Amino acid sequence: MKYLITWYTKTGTTKEIADQLAQALRDRGTEVDILPLEQAADLTPYSHVIVGAPINGMQWVPQAKQYLQANAAALDGVVLSLFAVSYVMHSGWKLWRKIVAKGIAELARTSGARQTAIFRGRIDKPLPTPARMLFGIPAATPLDLQDPTEVQAWAQEL
Ligand SMILES: Cc1cc2nc3c(=O)[nH]c(=O)nc-3n(C[C@H](O)[C@H](O)[C@H](O)COP(=O)(O)O)c2cc1C
Repeated sequence: MKYLITWYTKTGTTKEIADQLAQALRDRGTEVDILPLEQAADLTPYSHVIVGAPINGMQWVPQAKQYLQANAAALDGVVLSLFAVSYVMHSGWKLWRKIVAKGIAELARTSGARQTAIFRGRIDKPLPTPARMLFGIPAATPLDLQDPTEVQAWAQEL
């Protein structure tokens, strides 16, 4: 059994979470490789593949969706899990939460992923007030919502 965690990131959060997952899996004795999406072409060594990417525009970024499509045949032969990283999902209107969760559930259905998670992300600077209001994010919301305990708990399910 060998796991691959492959990630795409815009601002670094997804890579940090991928590293935390890898550590949690190694702590329980699992062999893990961790690679950016563009280097994760050969999936033959792996029994399990975990694909992680951020939510932008209330969807998993297109790079990650394209990866699932381009590697559909190889991913069919592994235990596949997906994770997303979202800031608004965990701080804004419930409507956004529903939209993000529905999108990830649909991706799991079409890709055959067994497990999914939507982790808390962070933003580098406060959103402009109109965007904050559109998303329904309270002004006092911390910029960094990450919770490593969530990541460690998910690792136990993989
Ligand atoms: C250009 C951009 C668009 C974003 N759009 C969304 C969004 O639509 N919904 C959301 O929940 N978070 C959104 N975020 C917040 C990211 O999901 C969050 O910052 C996450 O931690 C980023 O992951 P990364 O550092 O791996 O890129 C956006 C962030 C950026 C930079």
